[in-house]
Amino acid sequence: MQIETIRFERGKLTILDQSSLPNHVKYIELNTLDDVFKAIKHLKVRGAPAIGITAAYGLYLHAKFLYRTRSLTSETFYSAVIYLKGCRPTAKNLPWAVNKMYTRFEEVKNRSQCDVLDELKITAETIHEEDRIACENIGFYGNELLRDGANILTHCNAGILATGGIGTALAPVYTAINQGKKCHVYVDETRPVGQGARLTYWELMQNRISATLITDNMAGYLMSCGEIDLVCVGADRISANGDVANKIGTYSLAVLADYHKIPFYVLAPFSTFDMNIAKGTDISIEHRAANEVTRFWKINKELNYQVKNPAFDVTPHSIISAIITDKGVIHKPNKKTISHFFNF
Ligand code: MRU
Repeated sequence: MQIETIRFERGKLTILDQSSLPNHVKYIELNTLDDVFKAIKHLKVRGAPAIGITAAYGLYLHAKFLYRTRSLTSETFYSAVIYLKGCRPTAKNLPWAVNKMYTRFEEVKNRSQCDVLDELKITAETIHEEDRIACENIGFYGNELLRDGANILTHCNAGILATGGIGTALAPVYTAINQGKKCHVYVDETRPVGQGARLTYWELMQNRISATLITDNMAGYLMSCGEIDLVCVGADRISANGDVANKIGTYSLAVLADYHKIPFYVLAPFSTFDMNIAKGTDISIEHRAANEVTRFWKINKELNYQVKNPAFDVTPHSIISAIITDKGVIHKPNKKTISHFFNF
């Protein structure tokens, strides 16, 4: 099956509703700014690049609405930008994409309003297309580090469902398979929301890629048995010194990989880097509703369990073997290697 995470055709924005997967494959149309906000908030579309792309289209649709109601101004457009930015705080790609839309708006706002709308549409489509290309490039660089027959462990979903292309963490797998290599993917279930179990395993199955589902607490045992050759994960935000915010549980995997001397790779496009944030501890971590943790066990609300639900954690750069970007590989990431890379 051809998975299409985000489709924009003849002015209509359609997404694959990821909250219904894997049991129901359902596409939904997003027509308003609120539709887009809610789809991102409730994880119908998720994954750093995918939420950036969806938000960009959402701003275009909203600009069209503002135009129809004769209220498209810098102020009204900017307040929509701020609204969407507040939707999920950790992924850099969201503010990155909406800022791009706002910058373009400011550049062209004195042209005819039809022209302004055209320019916003082109900008959103370009963000989408550039992400597709970035994924291909990440696949290219990542594949070079993948030996034939490798066993890869991944966490969360950083594949087709999370991006505008073939994914970030999973891109090398798709590239390798296309080139006739073999590889096997161990998929962490990724509590509490189950992006691994519900999304990654399903996505790999649709693409006939050999995969095994494990619970999150099995990774260390498999590493100790020599069953994992490398770990590949995505990123939501990377600070200037190379610390990485990604789905909760990523940090534990990195510590385990470091202990077992297994390469730990982070794969992400340039839009995920935040050079204005010096270190990972300064990254804002989203905390989500308690029922994401308790509903799996059908725990009654009346029992009043105390719950903590940070959606992301931060992995220090010192235990990351390399960051694989769309522009090349940053081995031993740190402030110096990253700034060197950005200035090349
Ligand atoms: O809460 P989610 O599902 O949006 O979290 C997604 C992740 O943590 C991904 O690993 C990250 O966004 C990279 S996606 C290419």
